[in-house]
Amino acid sequence: MEATHDVLVVGAGCAGMRAAIEAHDRGAKVGVISKLHPTRSHSGAAEGGINAALGNTAEDSPETHAFDTVKGSDYLGDQDAIEIFTAEAPGDIYQLEHWGCVFSRNDEGRLAQRPFGAAGSPRTVYAADITGHVLIQVLYEQLQRRMDEGMTVYEEYFAFRLVIEDGRCTGVISWDLMNGGVKLLTGKSVILATGGAGRLYRATTNAYACTGDGMAMALRAGLPLKDMEFMQFHPTTMYPSGILITEGCRGEGGYLINKEGERFMQRYAPNALELASRDVVSRSETTEIEAGRGINGSVLLDLRHLGAEKILSRLPGSRELAMTYAAVDPIYDPIPVRPGAHYHMGGVETDNWGLTEVEGLYAAGEVACVSVHGANRLGGNSLMETITFGRRAGQAAAEAALTAPATGNGHGEVARADAEAWVKGLLANTEGERPWQVRDELGQSMLENFGVFRYPDKMERQLELIAGYRERYERGVVVEDKGDVFNSDLTQAIELGYLLDLAACMLQAGVARKESRGAHSRPTDFPDRDDENFLVHSITRWRDDGPELSYKEVRMTRWEPTERKY
Ligand code: FUM
Repeated sequence: MEATHDVLVVGAGCAGMRAAIEAHDRGAKVGVISKLHPTRSHSGAAEGGINAALGNTAEDSPETHAFDTVKGSDYLGDQDAIEIFTAEAPGDIYQLEHWGCVFSRNDEGRLAQRPFGAAGSPRTVYAADITGHVLIQVLYEQLQRRMDEGMTVYEEYFAFRLVIEDGRCTGVISWDLMNGGVKLLTGKSVILATGGAGRLYRATTNAYACTGDGMAMALRAGLPLKDMEFMQFHPTTMYPSGILITEGCRGEGGYLINKEGERFMQRYAPNALELASRDVVSRSETTEIEAGRGINGSVLLDLRHLGAEKILSRLPGSRELAMTYAAVDPIYDPIPVRPGAHYHMGGVETDNWGLTEVEGLYAAGEVACVSVHGANRLGGNSLMETITFGRRAGQAAAEAALTAPATGNGHGEVARADAEAWVKGLLANTEGERPWQVRDELGQSMLENFGVFRYPDKMERQLELIAGYRERYERGVVVEDKGDVFNSDLTQAIELGYLLDLAACMLQAGVARKESRGAHSRPTDFPDRDDENFLVHSITRWRDDGPELSYKEVRMTRWEPTERKY
């Protein structure tokens, strides 16, 4: 069967749109399929900024950016990927600016850069505190231009299976959310850019759509996931909603206090204070809360001393969010915050061009693990990763597609029919639980048993719970809505299966990693980093009886691991 597209991009956040633009500009016929309208993608929730060593406010270089990233990753990031990333980031920022990104500027008229956590100098470029929102608007404008030149965007299509023919990925099976129906979309190259899986946790900054679809599809198609135990908890998510309050607040000088009014980071990170790396700040907050020095399970982010003018000009979005969702005006009162699941450092293993183990299949953005972030990501490096590695994946996928054989072997239609029968079975089921019941329990228990701190008994308990959730899921869940149009009941049932697969991978890798590194902290049984035994990536594959774990070496170029001090 003839492929409909040269390059099919699955997902239309920053990584997906950037990849699509690049593939199109290199001559490929591109299709973009997205669960949401592109401008509603979760990239739009990114607030504080995007990192590149422009050196506009202090001396900076790609080398120092690379070193900060390596150190922030607790030495688990692949250093060759990190060096590519930091070297190419500045050019990608200027490209965005030329496309129309209205980044904030300093008094000299240059792009302004603010301090962010664990960065040696201010290198986070920003558009007030709505940077992700600005980026997706501009990328979508660029997409629209290219739609006039033949690019097709399939909005509100939920991709749920990969098509692999003769060892090559040739498309995806999806559910048409607007009209109903199981559809086959094909491409000579396919790029996964479906984002993360923060919805594994009840307290998260992530949108409802962030259910790890791409990771789970790849896993079920036999591909390896890398470093799945590393889920980042962002230190300042608003209580109780979980909405992100940007690290930019601390970059602009905001600080954290406990219920006694003490600036407690002085005890945990005397040099970097609130701008220590996120794993450090989240652990400090959790320790304060567990010691009874929190307020309703949160601590306070104090911006009052910044003054109204700075808050209104640099942090207007954060103020609005705090007023709307916590009934607090940060000009006058501190904001209640706590750590919340924010970003998955793990994902589909790729090379530095986004290529996965399967020919024709690429991944970029949070769904992928290149690995730039290792065990802990620096704030501002994620938006940059979506752009730089989105572009690289778009280029590589286009080049491969333009020289690839034109046809699959016809298996795509068989896979579509098989998926259609499966969906019909799901819709026909009338006995069992509602999917949201299991999903809620999963989210709550992941938070309790596999959160900021990880304890051996709790992890074992979580493994048992996940096995129980899976049994309940496989016994059958009931989709009450039998309709075709925007059937979120159906999509949630499918997503639950993904979340259960990913949770099982995370727990298995977490139990086996007998050390503390970055976001994986085992304070009671293995409190220290163990480079001798665990300076390795975990690799998880799905076998008939569940996930199977192995390890792979970290690629080092010039930085030997040393102790991290902030
Ligand atoms: O805090 C923030 O603005 C988040 C940024 C990021 O996760 O990179």
